[in-house]
Amino acid sequence: MTVLDQTTDLALSAAMREGSLAEHRAAEDSSFMSELLGGRVNERGYADYLLRLRLVYATMEEIVTAHGDDAAVAAVADTALERLAAIDADLDHWLADTADPTLESPAAEAYRQRLLDAAAEWPTLLVAHHYTRYLGDLSGGQAIGRILDRTFELDGAGIAFYDFPEIAKPKIYKDGYRARLDAIGPTGEEQERIVAEVKTAFRLNQGLFAELGQHLESYAR
Ligand code: HEM
Repeated sequence: MTVLDQTTDLALSAAMREGSLAEHRAAEDSSFMSELLGGRVNERGYADYLLRLRLVYATMEEIVTAHGDDAAVAAVADTALERLAAIDADLDHWLADTADPTLESPAAEAYRQRLLDAAAEWPTLLVAHHYTRYLGDLSGGQAIGRILDRTFELDGAGIAFYDFPEIAKPKIYKDGYRARLDAIGPTGEEQERIVAEVKTAFRLNQGLFAELGQHLESYAR
C-alpha cells in the first residue's frame, strides 16, 4: 500500500471527510469567513458572496439533474437540498437597493468550469462537489446562518440559504447521506479520484474566499 492509498481503506464517506480535513480547516480560517462571522462584513460583502454561490449552485444543480442516470449521482441527488431558489430569494433581500447587480469573478468562473469538466470527465466526480457544498451547508452552514441572523438582526430574512424546509433534522439527514455515499462502493482507484475531487472542491471554495478577501476594506462595517 502506498501512502496515497491510505484513504482507500476507509468507507467512502469517511475517506472524503478525512481526506479534506486540512482543506476544511483552511476554509474555516479564511480571512473573509472570520471577518464575516465576526460581524465585520457589510451587506455588499455578503451579497458578493451570495452572487458567487449563485453561479456555483446554478451550475451544480443543473448538471446534477442532467446526470441523474449516473448511479452514484442518483444516490445523493435530492431536490430537498437544492439551493438556487433560496439564493435568489436571499439576493432579493441583500441587493434590494442595487439595480442590475453584475458578477465579475474569476474564482466563481473557475469553479463553474471545473464542475463542467468534472461532469464531462466522469459524472461520479459530481458526488465530490455535491458532498462538499451540501454537507457543509448542513453542518457549519447552520451555525453561519444563525450568526448572520444575529449580526444583521435579520429575524430570519435573507438567510433562506441556510434553511432546508424539507430537512427537519440535519444530523439525521447527514447520517443517511453518508450511508448512501458508502453504498456507492467505488473501487480503490475510483475512491482516490473522488477524494481528490473533494480537495479540489474545497480549494475552489477557498478561491472564492480569497477573492472576496481582497475587498475586505470596502466591505468593512
Ligand atoms: C467558518 C466556516 C466553517 C465552519 C465553522 C464549519 C464548521 C463545520 C463543522 C462544525 C462541521 C462538523 C459538523 C458535524 O459533524 O455534523 C463541518 C462539517 C463539514 N463542513 Fe464545514 N465549516 C465551515 C466552512 C466550510 C466550508 C467553506 C466548506 C466547504 C465549502 C465546508 C464543508 C464541510 C463539509 C463537507 C462537512 C462535512 C464533513 C463530514 O462529516 O463528512 N465547511 N463544518
